[in-house]
Amino acid sequence: MKKSKFYVTTPIYYVNDKPHIGHAYTTILADVLTRYHESIGDEVFFLTGLDEHGQKVKQAAEKRNLSCQEHCNDLAPRFINLWEKLEIKYSDFIRTTQERHIKLVQSVLQKVYEKGDIYMDEYEGWYSVAEERFITATEKESGQFRDVKMLKERNWFFKMSKYQRNLIDHINNNPQFIRPESRKNEILGFLRQPLGDLCISRPKERMDWGIEIPFDREYVTYVWFDALLNYVTGVGFEADNDKFNKWWPADIHLIGKDILTTHSVYWSTMLFSLGLPLPKTIFAHGWWLIGETKMSKSLGNVVNPLDMAEQYGVDALRYYLMREMVLGQDSSFTLESFIKRYNSDLANDFGNLLNRVSGLIGKYFDSVVPAVKGKTAAEEDIEKSFNELMPKIRTLILEFKINEAIEETMQLIRKVNKYLESQAPWKVAKENLERAGTILYTATEALRLAAILLLPVMPSKCGRVMEVLSADKTELLWGGLKSGTKLQTHEALFPRIEEEKK
Ligand code: ME8
Ligand code: MG
Repeated sequence: MKKSKFYVTTPIYYVNDKPHIGHAYTTILADVLTRYHESIGDEVFFLTGLDEHGQKVKQAAEKRNLSCQEHCNDLAPRFINLWEKLEIKYSDFIRTTQERHIKLVQSVLQKVYEKGDIYMDEYEGWYSVAEERFITATEKESGQFRDVKMLKERNWFFKMSKYQRNLIDHINNNPQFIRPESRKNEILGFLRQPLGDLCISRPKERMDWGIEIPFDREYVTYVWFDALLNYVTGVGFEADNDKFNKWWPADIHLIGKDILTTHSVYWSTMLFSLGLPLPKTIFAHGWWLIGETKMSKSLGNVVNPLDMAEQYGVDALRYYLMREMVLGQDSSFTLESFIKRYNSDLANDFGNLLNRVSGLIGKYFDSVVPAVKGKTAAEEDIEKSFNELMPKIRTLILEFKINEAIEETMQLIRKVNKYLESQAPWKVAKENLERAGTILYTATEALRLAAILLLPVMPSKCGRVMEVLSADKTELLWGGLKSGTKLQTHEALFPRIEEEKK
């Protein structure tokens, strides 16, 4: 199969508070995609990082009586440490206060200005402090915006309107550009109205925490014009041409649906102005809800991913987030559904399969993997199921249907558990040890392959299964498990959560 490059990004998160489950979700999703692509031999670049400028961060710093930079430096490790804890294998971590980024943003501003796509204008209108942007009268009437005030100011504007036609054409010609489909239609709907130009400056006297505009030192850059450029800074735009040409355009920008407009409209028109190709896909996932409401820092109803990982394990958290959310739709996060999922899928199905095979091979074969002697239809059936599963998983992952890929794999694990029950090797062993060996080899080999398929989602627990089986993670063909291998002793993979803690 042809190997390719895969460049995946997460949003860069505001450092106005500690990370929550929503941030962990997008980042884990990017990590899972990274690991899947690596497992099929693709070369992957995974960029994440922090959005450190702008009003939200400034306000957060002021509250703590710290300078903005001190505040960012203090909070950055909370993200970095959490990602380490959650086994996130990013290629680079970008912070928008880094010199490389400031330099790039200023150079882009200068270029776009010289091209004639930036102009000065006085504007009076409704300004949402929470959203940090001017909003239209219709938006104000919708009541969706907090902290709205009338503001009259001279500012720099980016000619977004100039690229409206190009953007509409691009969306229509590239069905994979904005996903899922419903989001694409939402943006096309939005683009039926004439697109205004984008105010991309803030006068320093009002807001000074940002990147200075190179051709007008009285102003700093609007935080979104700065932040979106992280996606090209991160792969060396204007600093390392080989690197940039290798990775750009991004294969996928993963984002929450809250920031779809900024990505599909602001970012695309910026790229048009720069003459750069657009990302191949912008994928907007849904929200994790607490009950009916979005989990968010400003609402204060957040679930702390670190607590969850510490209490129930990193892999269980990764599994739950990936299994539970249908990409593109909202999902409700509850401890009850978490525990249910854990006990049924991880403890009963997956963990139990390992316990059974290692227990039985321990008892009847002195922990040495037995050989296959004469397959029956039952073995052929398990083998066939796995051979059919591999290409299916690949297709599902390329379609970003992670939850379905996981479910397909779990179904096979369930099938193997049923196979063990119906074949009852513990009974067979008493009369026909060879036959029992064939059954146990088949179940163990199925477990090994399932663990490889789940490795991107649960790197440590599946890695542990590999260790117990002394198996090679890259051997994806049936029969890769060697007879004669001595199984290692192991602890329970996923001990049942007995108490339904509330
Ligand atoms: O918007 N459910 O940063 P941010 C699912 N700095 N995902 C969620 C979520 C929830 N309840 N809450 C947050 C910003 N997210 C900008 C981005 S990019 C150039 C600049 C995730 O800290 C989701 O990925 O508000 C969302 O898009 C992101 O966090 C917003 O993080
Ligand atoms: Mg937000």
